[in-house]
Amino acid sequence: MNFLSGKHILVGVCGGIAAYKSAELVRLLRGAGARVRVVMTASAGEFVGPRTFQALTGEAVWQGWSDDRSGMDHIELARWADRVLIAPATADVLARLAQGRADDLLAAICLATSAPLLVAPAMNQAMWGHPATQANAAVLCERGVRLCGPATGEQACGDIGAGRMLEPPLLLQAISDSFGRGLLAGLKVLVTAGPTREALDPVRFLSNRSSGKMGYAVAAAAREAGAEVTLISGPVSLDRPAGVALVRVESAQQMLEAVMQRAGACDIFVAAAAVADYQPAETASRKLKRQSAELTLKLKPAPDILATVAGLPAAPFCVGFAAETENLRHNAHKKRLGKGIAMLAANLVGPDLGFDVDENALLVVWEGGELHIEKDTKYRVALRLVEQIAGRYQASPHDKHTESHAEHSA
Ligand SMILES: Cc1cc2nc3c(=O)[nH]c(=O)nc-3n(C[C@H](O)[C@H](O)[C@H](O)COP(=O)(O)O)c2cc1C
Repeated sequence: MNFLSGKHILVGVCGGIAAYKSAELVRLLRGAGARVRVVMTASAGEFVGPRTFQALTGEAVWQGWSDDRSGMDHIELARWADRVLIAPATADVLARLAQGRADDLLAAICLATSAPLLVAPAMNQAMWGHPATQANAAVLCERGVRLCGPATGEQACGDIGAGRMLEPPLLLQAISDSFGRGLLAGLKVLVTAGPTREALDPVRFLSNRSSGKMGYAVAAAAREAGAEVTLISGPVSLDRPAGVALVRVESAQQMLEAVMQRAGACDIFVAAAAVADYQPAETASRKLKRQSAELTLKLKPAPDILATVAGLPAAPFCVGFAAETENLRHNAHKKRLGKGIAMLAANLVGPDLGFDVDENALLVVWEGGELHIEKDTKYRVALRLVEQIAGRYQASPHDKHTESHAEHSA
Protein backbone atom coordinates (compact mmCIF):
# COMPACT_ATOMS: atom_id res chain seq x y z
CA MET A 1 0.00 0.00 0.00
CA ASN A 2 1.29 3.46 -0.87
CA PHE A 3 0.83 5.56 2.23
CA LEU A 4 2.35 8.69 0.68
CA SER A 5 -0.04 9.25 -2.20
CA GLY A 6 -1.56 12.73 -1.94
CA LYS A 7 0.18 13.49 1.36
CA HIS A 8 1.62 16.96 1.96
CA ILE A 9 5.28 16.68 2.91
CA LEU A 10 7.20 19.79 3.87
CA VAL A 11 10.93 19.17 3.45
CA GLY A 12 13.24 21.49 5.38
CA VAL A 13 16.74 21.71 3.95
CA CYS A 14 19.57 23.08 6.12
CA GLY A 15 23.13 24.18 5.41
CA GLY A 16 25.13 20.96 5.44
CA ILE A 17 27.13 18.97 2.94
CA ALA A 18 24.33 16.40 2.71
CA ALA A 19 21.96 19.03 1.27
CA TYR A 20 22.67 17.71 -2.22
CA LYS A 21 21.02 14.42 -1.19
CA SER A 22 17.78 16.25 -0.38
CA ALA A 23 17.14 16.61 -4.11
CA GLU A 24 17.05 12.82 -4.43
CA LEU A 25 14.79 12.60 -1.37
CA VAL A 26 12.35 15.09 -2.92
CA ARG A 27 12.42 13.13 -6.19
CA LEU A 28 11.57 9.90 -4.35
CA LEU A 29 8.75 11.55 -2.40
CA ARG A 30 7.25 12.92 -5.61
CA GLY A 31 7.61 9.52 -7.24
CA ALA A 32 5.59 8.04 -4.35
CA GLY A 33 2.78 10.49 -5.14
CA ALA A 34 3.36 12.98 -2.31
CA ARG A 35 2.99 16.72 -2.74
CA VAL A 36 6.24 18.30 -1.61
CA ARG A 37 7.12 21.84 -0.61
CA VAL A 38 10.68 22.78 0.25
CA VAL A 39 11.75 25.37 2.81
CA MET A 40 15.47 26.08 2.76
CA THR A 41 17.42 27.85 5.47
CA ALA A 42 19.61 30.77 4.41
CA SER A 43 22.73 28.58 4.74
CA ALA A 44 21.22 25.78 2.66
CA GLY A 45 21.40 28.08 -0.36
CA GLU A 46 25.19 27.93 -0.15
CA PHE A 47 25.11 24.17 -0.71
CA VAL A 48 22.31 23.61 -3.20
CA GLY A 49 20.22 25.92 -5.38
CA PRO A 50 16.47 26.51 -4.99
CA ARG A 51 15.86 25.90 -8.70
CA THR A 52 16.68 22.22 -8.26
CA PHE A 53 13.87 21.84 -5.72
CA GLN A 54 11.57 24.07 -7.71
CA ALA A 55 11.98 21.82 -10.75
CA LEU A 56 11.57 18.63 -8.73
CA THR A 57 8.51 19.73 -6.74
CA GLY A 58 6.78 21.86 -9.36
CA GLU A 59 6.20 24.37 -6.55
CA ALA A 60 7.83 27.58 -5.41
CA VAL A 61 10.64 27.18 -2.88
CA TRP A 62 10.87 29.17 0.33
CA GLN A 63 14.33 30.42 1.33
CA GLY A 64 13.33 32.55 4.28
CA TRP A 65 11.01 35.29 5.47
CA SER A 66 11.65 37.29 2.29
CA ASP A 67 9.81 34.60 0.29
CA ASP A 68 6.73 35.09 2.44
CA ARG A 69 3.89 35.50 -0.04
CA SER A 70 0.84 35.90 2.18
CA GLY A 71 2.44 37.56 5.19
CA MET A 72 1.50 34.41 7.12
CA ASP A 73 3.35 31.74 5.14
CA HIS A 74 4.83 30.16 8.27
CA ILE A 75 1.30 29.47 9.55
CA GLU A 76 -0.06 28.43 6.17
CA LEU A 77 2.82 26.05 5.53
CA ALA A 78 2.51 24.70 9.08
CA ARG A 79 -1.16 23.92 8.43
CA TRP A 80 -0.52 22.63 4.91
CA ALA A 81 1.94 19.96 6.04
CA ASP A 82 0.93 16.41 7.00
CA ARG A 83 4.57 15.80 7.91
CA VAL A 84 7.61 18.04 8.28
CA LEU A 85 10.90 16.33 7.50
CA ILE A 86 14.17 18.24 8.00
CA ALA A 87 16.91 16.64 5.95
CA PRO A 88 19.69 17.39 6.45
CA ALA A 89 19.20 18.73 9.97
CA THR A 90 22.27 20.65 11.07
CA ALA A 91 23.60 20.84 14.62
CA ASP A 92 22.43 24.43 14.62
CA VAL A 93 18.81 23.66 13.63
CA LEU A 94 18.63 20.96 16.32
CA ALA A 95 19.72 23.61 18.84
CA ARG A 96 17.17 26.11 17.50
CA LEU A 97 14.35 23.57 17.62
CA ALA A 98 15.30 22.40 21.11
CA GLN A 99 15.13 26.01 22.29
CA GLY A 100 11.83 26.64 20.54
CA ARG A 101 13.25 29.52 18.50
CA ALA A 102 11.34 31.09 15.64
CA ASP A 103 13.96 33.38 14.14
CA ASP A 104 13.92 31.73 10.72
CA LEU A 105 11.05 30.47 8.58
CA LEU A 106 11.77 26.76 9.01
CA ALA A 107 12.04 26.93 12.81
CA ALA A 108 8.87 29.04 12.99
CA ILE A 109 6.98 26.44 10.92
CA CYS A 110 8.19 23.71 13.28
CA LEU A 111 6.77 25.64 16.22
CA ALA A 112 3.48 26.39 14.49
CA THR A 113 2.71 22.98 13.01
CA SER A 114 0.72 20.20 14.59
CA ALA A 115 2.09 17.78 11.98
CA PRO A 116 4.60 15.19 13.20
CA LEU A 117 8.18 16.36 12.79
CA LEU A 118 10.99 14.08 11.58
CA VAL A 119 14.62 15.18 11.55
CA ALA A 120 17.57 13.57 9.80
CA PRO A 121 20.73 14.88 11.51
CA ALA A 122 23.83 15.18 9.33
CA MET A 123 27.11 16.50 10.62
CA ASN A 124 30.68 15.69 11.55
CA GLN A 125 30.91 12.84 14.06
CA ALA A 126 32.44 15.08 16.77
CA MET A 127 29.64 17.64 16.31
CA TRP A 128 27.05 14.85 16.62
CA GLY A 129 28.77 13.31 19.63
CA HIS A 130 29.11 16.62 21.48
CA PRO A 131 27.04 16.65 24.70
CA ALA A 132 25.30 19.83 23.57
CA THR A 133 24.03 18.21 20.37
CA GLN A 134 23.15 15.00 22.19
CA ALA A 135 21.20 16.98 24.79
CA ASN A 136 19.33 18.87 22.06
CA ALA A 137 18.47 15.62 20.27
CA ALA A 138 17.25 14.11 23.55
CA VAL A 139 14.99 17.11 24.24
CA LEU A 140 13.50 16.82 20.76
CA CYS A 141 12.89 13.08 21.17
CA GLU A 142 11.14 13.69 24.47
CA ARG A 143 8.82 16.10 22.69
CA GLY A 144 7.89 13.45 20.16
CA VAL A 145 10.17 14.52 17.30
CA ARG A 146 11.25 11.44 15.35
CA LEU A 147 14.97 11.18 14.88
CA CYS A 148 15.91 9.46 11.61
CA GLY A 149 19.53 8.41 11.92
CA PRO A 150 22.23 9.52 11.72
CA ALA A 151 24.05 6.66 10.04
CA THR A 152 27.63 5.68 10.78
CA GLY A 153 30.36 5.60 8.16
CA GLU A 154 32.89 7.66 6.26
CA GLN A 155 32.23 11.39 6.33
CA ALA A 156 32.87 14.19 3.85
CA CYS A 157 35.60 15.55 6.13
CA GLY A 158 37.42 12.18 6.17
CA ASP A 159 36.31 11.21 9.70
CA ILE A 160 34.62 7.93 10.35
CA GLY A 161 31.74 7.77 12.81
CA ALA A 162 28.09 8.58 13.45
CA GLY A 163 26.79 11.68 11.69
CA ARG A 164 25.99 10.75 8.10
CA MET A 165 22.52 11.62 6.89
CA LEU A 166 20.35 8.54 6.34
CA GLU A 167 20.22 7.71 2.64
CA PRO A 168 17.12 9.09 0.83
CA PRO A 169 15.43 5.68 0.33
CA LEU A 170 15.61 5.07 4.09
CA LEU A 171 14.18 8.53 4.78
CA LEU A 172 11.40 7.80 2.31
CA GLN A 173 10.70 4.60 4.24
CA ALA A 174 10.72 6.44 7.58
CA ILE A 175 8.21 9.02 6.42
CA SER A 176 6.03 6.39 4.81
CA ASP A 177 6.12 4.34 8.04
CA SER A 178 5.06 7.41 9.99
CA PHE A 179 1.75 7.25 8.08
CA GLY A 180 1.39 3.59 7.38
CA ARG A 181 2.71 1.70 10.31
CA GLY A 182 2.99 2.52 13.93
CA LEU A 183 0.05 4.75 14.71
CA LEU A 184 -2.69 2.10 14.66
CA ALA A 185 -0.68 -0.92 13.56
CA GLY A 186 -2.03 -4.20 14.90
CA LEU A 187 -5.29 -2.65 16.10
CA LYS A 188 -8.83 -3.47 15.02
CA VAL A 189 -10.96 -0.43 14.30
CA LEU A 190 -14.71 -0.50 13.77
CA VAL A 191 -16.25 2.55 12.07
CA THR A 192 -19.87 3.38 11.33
CA ALA A 193 -20.81 5.83 8.59
CA GLY A 194 -23.72 7.32 6.70
CA PRO A 195 -27.37 7.75 7.56
CA THR A 196 -29.85 5.10 8.60
CA ARG A 197 -33.27 4.57 7.05
CA GLU A 198 -36.20 3.92 9.35
CA ALA A 199 -39.03 2.36 7.39
CA LEU A 200 -42.53 3.77 7.61
CA ASP A 201 -43.89 1.28 5.11
CA PRO A 202 -42.38 -0.82 2.30
CA VAL A 203 -41.56 2.27 0.19
CA ARG A 204 -41.07 5.18 2.60
CA PHE A 205 -38.51 5.88 5.27
CA LEU A 206 -37.25 8.55 7.66
CA SER A 207 -33.60 9.47 7.12
CA ASN A 208 -31.17 12.40 7.22
CA ARG A 209 -28.71 14.27 5.02
CA SER A 210 -25.56 12.38 6.02
CA SER A 211 -23.48 11.50 2.94
CA GLY A 212 -21.16 9.11 4.81
CA LYS A 213 -18.09 10.99 3.53
CA MET A 214 -16.66 11.73 6.99
CA GLY A 215 -17.00 8.14 8.24
CA TYR A 216 -15.55 6.75 5.01
CA ALA A 217 -12.63 9.18 5.33
CA VAL A 218 -12.05 8.04 8.93
CA ALA A 219 -12.07 4.40 7.80
CA ALA A 220 -9.57 5.16 5.02
CA ALA A 221 -7.32 7.14 7.38
CA ALA A 222 -7.41 4.40 10.03
CA ARG A 223 -6.52 1.84 7.35
CA GLU A 224 -3.64 4.01 6.24
CA ALA A 225 -2.48 4.15 9.84
CA GLY A 226 -2.12 0.37 9.74
CA ALA A 227 -5.36 -0.70 11.44
CA GLU A 228 -7.56 -3.59 10.38
CA VAL A 229 -10.73 -1.67 9.64
CA THR A 230 -14.36 -2.75 9.34
CA LEU A 231 -16.78 -0.11 8.10
CA ILE A 232 -20.48 -0.52 8.81
CA SER A 233 -22.27 1.78 6.46
CA GLY A 234 -25.80 3.02 6.03
CA PRO A 235 -27.04 3.65 2.47
CA VAL A 236 -24.60 5.98 0.69
CA SER A 237 -23.23 6.30 -2.83
CA LEU A 238 -19.53 5.99 -1.98
CA ASP A 239 -16.94 3.40 -3.00
CA ARG A 240 -15.45 1.06 -0.42
CA PRO A 241 -12.15 2.52 0.81
CA ALA A 242 -9.19 0.35 -0.25
CA GLY A 243 -8.28 -2.36 2.22
CA VAL A 244 -11.37 -1.81 4.38
CA ALA A 245 -14.01 -4.53 5.06
CA LEU A 246 -17.44 -3.07 4.29
CA VAL A 247 -20.78 -4.18 5.76
CA ARG A 248 -23.87 -2.48 4.34
CA VAL A 249 -26.95 -1.97 6.50
CA GLU A 250 -30.12 0.14 6.29
CA SER A 251 -31.76 0.70 9.66
CA ALA A 252 -30.45 1.68 13.09
CA GLN A 253 -31.44 -1.78 14.34
CA GLN A 254 -29.43 -3.50 11.57
CA MET A 255 -26.49 -1.22 12.30
CA LEU A 256 -26.69 -2.04 16.00
CA GLU A 257 -26.67 -5.77 15.25
CA ALA A 258 -23.74 -5.49 12.83
CA VAL A 259 -21.79 -3.42 15.37
CA MET A 260 -22.54 -5.68 18.32
CA GLN A 261 -21.35 -8.74 16.40
CA ARG A 262 -17.93 -7.09 16.12
CA ALA A 263 -17.60 -4.61 19.01
CA GLY A 264 -16.22 -7.15 21.48
CA ALA A 265 -13.28 -7.89 19.22
CA CYS A 266 -12.33 -4.33 18.26
CA ASP A 267 -9.89 -2.00 20.00
CA ILE A 268 -11.34 1.29 18.79
CA PHE A 269 -14.92 2.08 17.84
CA VAL A 270 -15.60 5.26 15.86
CA ALA A 271 -19.29 6.05 15.59
CA ALA A 272 -19.44 8.48 12.69
CA ALA A 273 -22.84 7.36 11.37
CA ALA A 274 -25.77 9.72 11.67
CA VAL A 275 -28.00 7.11 13.28
CA ALA A 276 -31.68 8.02 13.57
CA ASP A 277 -32.69 9.19 17.03
CA TYR A 278 -36.25 8.07 16.41
CA GLN A 279 -37.89 5.37 14.38
CA PRO A 280 -41.58 4.79 13.57
CA ALA A 281 -43.29 3.02 16.46
CA GLU A 282 -44.75 0.70 13.85
CA THR A 283 -43.79 -0.11 10.29
CA ALA A 284 -46.80 -0.69 8.05
CA SER A 285 -46.55 -3.92 6.11
CA ARG A 286 -48.36 -2.32 3.16
CA LYS A 287 -47.90 1.03 1.52
CA LEU A 288 -49.76 3.73 3.47
CA LYS A 289 -52.54 5.16 1.30
CA ARG A 290 -53.00 8.86 0.80
CA GLN A 291 -55.88 10.23 2.86
CA SER A 292 -57.44 13.65 3.11
CA ALA A 293 -57.20 13.69 6.92
CA GLU A 294 -53.98 14.64 8.77
CA LEU A 295 -51.65 11.76 9.48
CA THR A 296 -49.84 11.63 12.81
CA LEU A 297 -46.71 9.52 12.99
CA LYS A 298 -45.83 7.94 16.31
CA LEU A 299 -42.07 7.62 16.85
CA LYS A 300 -40.07 5.71 19.42
CA PRO A 301 -36.39 6.15 20.29
CA ALA A 302 -34.04 4.26 17.99
CA PRO A 303 -31.26 2.16 19.57
CA ASP A 304 -28.34 4.21 20.91
CA ILE A 305 -25.48 2.25 19.31
CA LEU A 306 -22.64 4.29 20.78
CA ALA A 307 -23.97 4.18 24.34
CA THR A 308 -24.61 0.43 23.98
CA VAL A 309 -21.02 -0.23 22.90
CA ALA A 310 -19.62 2.13 25.55
CA GLY A 311 -21.59 0.20 28.18
CA LEU A 312 -20.00 -3.16 27.32
CA PRO A 313 -17.96 -4.64 30.20
CA ALA A 314 -14.76 -4.61 28.09
CA ALA A 315 -15.72 -1.68 25.90
CA PRO A 316 -13.39 -0.61 23.12
CA PHE A 317 -11.96 2.92 23.07
CA CYS A 318 -15.07 4.78 21.90
CA VAL A 319 -15.08 7.89 19.70
CA GLY A 320 -18.40 9.57 18.98
CA PHE A 321 -19.43 12.23 16.52
CA ALA A 322 -21.88 15.01 17.19
CA ALA A 323 -23.49 17.29 14.67
CA GLU A 324 -24.53 20.48 16.40
CA THR A 325 -26.29 23.58 15.18
CA GLU A 326 -25.20 25.72 18.17
CA ASN A 327 -23.05 25.84 21.36
CA LEU A 328 -20.48 23.45 19.89
CA ARG A 329 -18.02 23.28 22.79
CA HIS A 330 -20.61 23.06 25.56
CA ASN A 331 -22.63 20.39 23.76
CA ALA A 332 -19.52 18.40 22.81
CA HIS A 333 -18.31 18.06 26.41
CA LYS A 334 -21.86 17.34 27.61
CA LYS A 335 -22.46 14.63 25.01
CA ARG A 336 -19.08 12.96 25.68
CA LEU A 337 -19.81 12.72 29.39
CA GLY A 338 -23.42 11.69 28.80
CA LYS A 339 -22.41 8.80 26.55
CA GLY A 340 -19.50 7.79 28.79
CA ILE A 341 -17.04 7.75 25.90
CA ALA A 342 -13.34 8.55 25.66
CA MET A 343 -13.48 11.07 22.84
CA LEU A 344 -16.00 13.06 20.86
CA ALA A 345 -15.60 14.91 17.57
CA ALA A 346 -18.14 17.66 17.14
CA ASN A 347 -18.90 19.69 14.08
CA LEU A 348 -21.28 22.48 13.32
CA VAL A 349 -23.88 21.64 10.72
CA GLY A 350 -25.88 24.02 8.62
CA PRO A 351 -25.78 25.40 5.09
CA ASP A 352 -22.39 24.41 3.53
CA LEU A 353 -21.20 22.88 6.80
CA GLY A 354 -20.94 19.30 7.95
CA PHE A 355 -23.41 17.19 6.00
CA ASP A 356 -23.08 16.27 2.33
CA VAL A 357 -20.13 18.60 1.68
CA ASP A 358 -16.50 17.71 0.99
CA GLU A 359 -14.94 19.78 3.77
CA ASN A 360 -15.30 19.73 7.50
CA ALA A 361 -13.86 21.23 10.68
CA LEU A 362 -13.97 19.47 14.04
CA LEU A 363 -13.70 20.22 17.70
CA VAL A 364 -12.34 17.05 19.31
CA VAL A 365 -12.79 16.75 23.07
CA TRP A 366 -11.60 14.23 25.65
CA GLU A 367 -11.03 14.13 29.40
CA GLY A 368 -8.98 17.21 30.17
CA GLY A 369 -8.29 18.31 26.62
CA GLU A 370 -9.55 19.40 23.25
CA LEU A 371 -8.25 20.03 19.74
CA HIS A 372 -9.65 22.19 17.00
CA ILE A 373 -9.07 20.66 13.56
CA GLU A 374 -9.26 23.44 11.00
CA LYS A 375 -11.56 23.28 8.00
CA ASP A 376 -10.06 21.06 5.32
CA THR A 377 -11.08 18.16 3.10
CA LYS A 378 -12.80 15.43 5.10
CA TYR A 379 -9.94 13.06 4.31
CA ARG A 380 -7.30 15.42 5.68
CA VAL A 381 -9.45 16.17 8.73
CA ALA A 382 -9.78 12.39 9.20
CA LEU A 383 -5.97 11.98 9.09
CA ARG A 384 -5.62 14.51 11.89
CA LEU A 385 -8.42 12.90 13.87
CA VAL A 386 -6.88 9.45 13.53
CA GLU A 387 -3.54 10.79 14.78
CA GLN A 388 -5.34 12.19 17.81
CA ILE A 389 -7.28 8.97 18.39
CA ALA A 390 -4.02 6.98 18.23
CA GLY A 391 -2.37 9.31 20.75
CA ARG A 392 -5.31 9.18 23.19
CA TYR A 393 -5.70 5.42 22.75
CA GLN A 394 -2.05 4.85 23.60
CA ALA A 395 -2.40 7.11 26.66
CA SER A 396 -5.58 5.41 27.87
CA PRO A 397 -5.62 2.47 30.31
CA HIS A 398 -6.83 -0.16 27.84
CA ASP A 399 -5.08 -3.13 29.52
CA LYS A 400 -8.39 -4.60 30.58
CA HIS A 401 -9.49 -4.46 27.00
CA THR A 402 -6.34 -6.02 25.62
CA GLU A 403 -6.58 -8.79 28.24
CA SER A 404 -10.10 -9.58 27.11
CA HIS A 405 -8.76 -9.85 23.54
CA ALA A 406 -6.09 -12.24 24.66
CA GLU A 407 -8.84 -14.41 26.12
CA HIS A 408 -10.71 -14.18 22.83
CA SER A 409 -7.83 -15.42 20.78
CA ALA A 410 -6.77 -18.08 23.33
C1 LIG B 1 31.48 23.79 4.03
C2 LIG B 1 30.56 23.69 5.23
C3 LIG B 1 29.98 22.50 5.55
C4 LIG B 1 29.13 22.38 6.64
N1 LIG B 1 28.54 21.18 6.90
C5 LIG B 1 27.74 21.05 7.97
C6 LIG B 1 27.13 19.81 8.25
O1 LIG B 1 27.26 18.82 7.53
N2 LIG B 1 26.34 19.72 9.37
C7 LIG B 1 26.14 20.79 10.20
O2 LIG B 1 25.43 20.62 11.19
N3 LIG B 1 26.69 21.98 9.94
C8 LIG B 1 27.50 22.14 8.85
N4 LIG B 1 28.07 23.36 8.60
C9 LIG B 1 27.78 24.48 9.45
C10 LIG B 1 26.42 25.09 9.11
O3 LIG B 1 26.36 25.45 7.73
C11 LIG B 1 26.15 26.28 9.98
O4 LIG B 1 26.03 25.87 11.32
C12 LIG B 1 24.91 27.04 9.58
O5 LIG B 1 24.75 28.16 10.40
C13 LIG B 1 23.70 26.16 9.67
O6 LIG B 1 22.56 26.93 9.36
P1 LIG B 1 21.14 26.27 9.23
O7 LIG B 1 20.97 25.32 10.35
O8 LIG B 1 20.19 27.43 9.33
O9 LIG B 1 21.02 25.64 7.90
C14 LIG B 1 28.91 23.50 7.47
C15 LIG B 1 29.52 24.71 7.16
C16 LIG B 1 30.32 24.81 6.06
C17 LIG B 1 31.00 26.16 5.71
